[in-house]
This record gives sequence, C-alpha cells and structure tokens, in this order.
Amino acid sequence: MNREQILVEARSVSKRFPGVLALDKVNLRIVGGKVNALVGENGAGKSTLMNILSGVYTDYEGEVLVEGEVQHFQSVHEAQEKGIAIIHQELNLIPYMNIAENIFLGDEPLNALGWIDKARMHAEAEALLQRLHLKVDTHTLVSDLRVGEQQLVEIAKALRLNAKALIMDEPTSSLSESETEVLFGLMAELRASGVGIVYISHKMDEVWRLADFVTVLRDGKWVAELPMEGCSTDEIVRLMVGRDRKDFFVKQSRERGEVMLQVEKLSLREPGRSGKFLLQDISFDLHRSEVLGIYGLMGAGRTELLETLYGLYPDTSSAQVRIEGKPVQIRHPQQAVAHGLALCPEDRKLEGLVLDMSIRTNTTLASLLQCLSPLNTIHAGKERKWADHFRQRLGIKSYSAEQLAGQLSGGNQQKIVLGKCLMTQPKVLFLDEPTRGIDINAKNEIYRLIDELSSQGMAIVLISSELPEIMAISDRIITLRQGCISQCFTREEFTEESILKASLPA
Ligand SMILES: Nc1ncnc2c1ncn2[C@@H]1O[C@H](COP(=O)(O)OP(=O)(O)OP(=O)(O)O)[C@@H](O)[C@H]1O
Ligand SMILES: [Mg+2]
Repeated sequence: MNREQILVEARSVSKRFPGVLALDKVNLRIVGGKVNALVGENGAGKSTLMNILSGVYTDYEGEVLVEGEVQHFQSVHEAQEKGIAIIHQELNLIPYMNIAENIFLGDEPLNALGWIDKARMHAEAEALLQRLHLKVDTHTLVSDLRVGEQQLVEIAKALRLNAKALIMDEPTSSLSESETEVLFGLMAELRASGVGIVYISHKMDEVWRLADFVTVLRDGKWVAELPMEGCSTDEIVRLMVGRDRKDFFVKQSRERGEVMLQVEKLSLREPGRSGKFLLQDISFDLHRSEVLGIYGLMGAGRTELLETLYGLYPDTSSAQVRIEGKPVQIRHPQQAVAHGLALCPEDRKLEGLVLDMSIRTNTTLASLLQCLSPLNTIHAGKERKWADHFRQRLGIKSYSAEQLAGQLSGGNQQKIVLGKCLMTQPKVLFLDEPTRGIDINAKNEIYRLIDELSSQGMAIVLISSELPEIMAISDRIITLRQGCISQCFTREEFTEESILKASLPA
C-alpha cells in the first residue's frame, strides 16, 4: 500500500479506564478505497479505539494522524470536520424525535430567516433513506421503528456527512438479510469512490466478503495487520485468542421429556383497527430437555411470538397455553415469571440492562429471592457469589462484580443479560438472539451452557438468525413465514437449504 493513500492513522495509542488498560500502544490505518476489518474478542478494545478516532474520547496517549498531520480531536464535531464519521455499535438515536430530526441533530439546515428549514431537512433525509432502500416516512418517531430500521437511520446519519473515512462498529447486528445486502452494496460504492472504511464484526463471513485487510487486537494490544489474501479464518482466530480455536460445539443426543409448554392457536393482531394479523394460528409443543429453534426472516414474527407468550400483548393476542398440562392465562410478564418462564430479550439496552448499575445488581435483579439474608434483607455477599459465578462461566471481561454494566464492551453486556435470565432458573427459557455481538469463542461457551441447561431439564426456545448456530443447538426447528408456521424439522432433517427455503416468502 502506498503511503499517500493512508487517510487516518493511529500510532501507539493507549487508553486507560479506571481498573483497565483498554488500549496498549495500538496501531491502525484507514486507507482510501480499502476496507480494514478490525477484529478481536469481546473487550479487546475495538470500540474504544474507534471512539478515539471519531472524537468521542479526548483523553488518550499516542498519536492520531489525518492525512499525515497529527490531530487531537476535542469533539465528535472536530473529527467530522476532518472527514471521519462513525456508525456506533450501540444505537445513539433520540427515541422521541423523528427520523429527519435525528439525522440532522445539532446540524440542522437553516433558511434565510435563520429558522430550521424543515422542508429541506426532510427532503435530504428522504434521499438518504432511499439510498438505504428504507421505505419509511421521515416524520416517523424513532421509537416507532424496529431495531433494524433504527440501525439504518444511524447509518443514514453517518452517510450524510460524506466522510472520507467511515467507521462501522458491527453495523449489521440487527439488520435483516436484505437490509444487509443493501448496506454491502452501498459500501462497495463508497469504497470505489475512495472512501476508507473500518469494519468491525464478529461474523467471519462478512469479513471475508468485505475486507481488503484485517487488523487484529487482543486484550488491548495490537497483534497483526494482514492482507486477506493468503490468510485463513483459523489463522485470524488464532491471532485473536492467542491459541488454537476451540472445537466447534457438538450437541449430545438425549431423550426429551414430557410436554412442558403447549401452545395452540396463538394469534396476534396489529394494534389499531387494521385487523391485520402479525401471527396466526400458531401451535407447537415444547418438551422438557428440548431446545426448539425458531427460524425466519426478519419481520416473520419470531420476536413477537415469544413476547406474546410472555404476556406483552394481552389485548391484541389470543392463545390456549398449557404449562405442564395445566391451562394458564398469561396477561403480564409477572404472571409469566410466576409460571416459570423467562425471556432473554433481543435488545439488551432497552429491555435487559440497567447501564448505571453494577454487574452484581443487574445479574440478580430478577432473582432477589435467591439472595435474601435470614432477616429477609438483600445479602450483597450472596449476590456477589452469583454474579461471580456468571462472570466466570460466561467469561464476562470485567475487573469486579461491582463494575458498572455501562462500562463493559457490547458483547460483555450481552453476557450479563443472559446471566440475569439464567439466574431466575426458569422451567421454560426464551432466548431471542442470545449471541448477538458475541465473539467466536464465547459463542461456543454459550452453546455448551444452553446444552447443559437443557440436559438438566430446562425447556428452551431459541431464536437465531444464524443458521449454523440454530442447527447446532436445536433438537427441532420450526420456520415462521409471514406470521405462520411454514414447516417443522427434526434434527435428522436439518439442512441449511431446506430451512432457508421454508422461511422465504411463498
Ligand atoms: N466507559 C468505560 N469505563 C470503564 N471501562 C471501559 C469503558 N468502556 C470500555 N471499557 C473497558 O475497555 C475494554 C475494551 O472495551 P471495548 O468496548 O473497546 O471492547 P470491544 O473490543 O469493542 O468489545 P465488543 O466486541 O464486546 O464490543 C473492556 O475491558 C471494557 O470493559
Ligand atoms: Mg465494541
């Protein structure tokens, strides 16, 4: 690579947080017209480094150069002025503002009188959404959008800046297959026009498809920069973890028990008077010691199915549900919990975690009864024991159980949400994309844990968008298509092709 092409460079950058050296003399290059994949385990320092390059963190050691000149950004705005834009891992939108207001926040176009030029703002926002093939009115409140749509708005916000260097921190984690394709097409255009891209992802297939070269971080240290040509996934993973990759999880076969959860004729109507069904006539059984996978394209109704069973839509849904043979009515999550159900949600920030509370408090929040002292007060020691158990078991990278959840890396936050659900020791566990944002090795550990729990008798429903994952851990898979069950597969019948085919619109 010729030096002139280097748009942005981090040289020997270090960043310390209380208790942790998040980056230790790290290097990175953003090169015009190239995609640099930045990889590393959860907590390796990827987001921290990107936050420095984009002016979010101003306090660090080392140098950041833009086109050969040292810059020390004091704000995101300064970084933007030098042509650096970032799409954050965690969504940063303001829920009660509309799409256009979010895209232009703090930089609204003004008319001759100095008022915000709303017409222009909406027209420009509309043009950006079109590039992303997002067909939503720009007046829509962000809180009314699906997570994937919010992610697209976040992307539109960065595109608006026409940056020379674009940082993308796990941009596809909640995009559907077709949304992902649109984004990849757009990246190809940007790359061809000379934009330099840093692409962070735990999905190796994406890295292979997009990257020209890869930068590997491990425990806050720079390990390597390699061209993709001539290297292998095994080699990259070895550099990431410092040893050979663990064997991929292999499920043990076992007998399933009696029926634990029986669902008959479940339907869910869209709110309002449209009369449209989001889910219709869904019936299935879930046995003790069974993992039932639910596969479907985004929008097929997977999350809504679990949420309906969990009592989130009592007024728009109907179903006959039995738990251990007894008919039950679940009209509220509290009732779901009382019947032994637990739901590990897809969106950790909105529904799963309290960011300014410790790992300990978050872990035990839903299971305080297990942490009472003889005087019926909360026993911090017991809480800590549980929190430490999950920190160790799930490999939550943190210096103590007292560390605030908000100070952990994205993947490690996800692990706490999982720990919190497991701690309730439910009879029936609903997992909605449990490994989103989790690195390759930690994923395997979570598969082992799911297998162990089911061998102890827990009945588990798992939603996953990753076919290899859902096929590895499920005993059966049902496919949802436009709100209805299209097919049911037993383990012997699993093939990627047939499952995918059953979920595509007829
Ligand atoms: N605000 C903060 N306060 C304290 N520690 C922090 C803070 N932000 C990050 N850290 C710590 O810095 C380290 C690096 O975190 P970072 O978010 O950069 O990881 P990451 O590589 O992006 O991981 P992931 O793949 O999980 O997103 C972690 O140990 C994390 O706990
Ligand atoms: Mg991160």
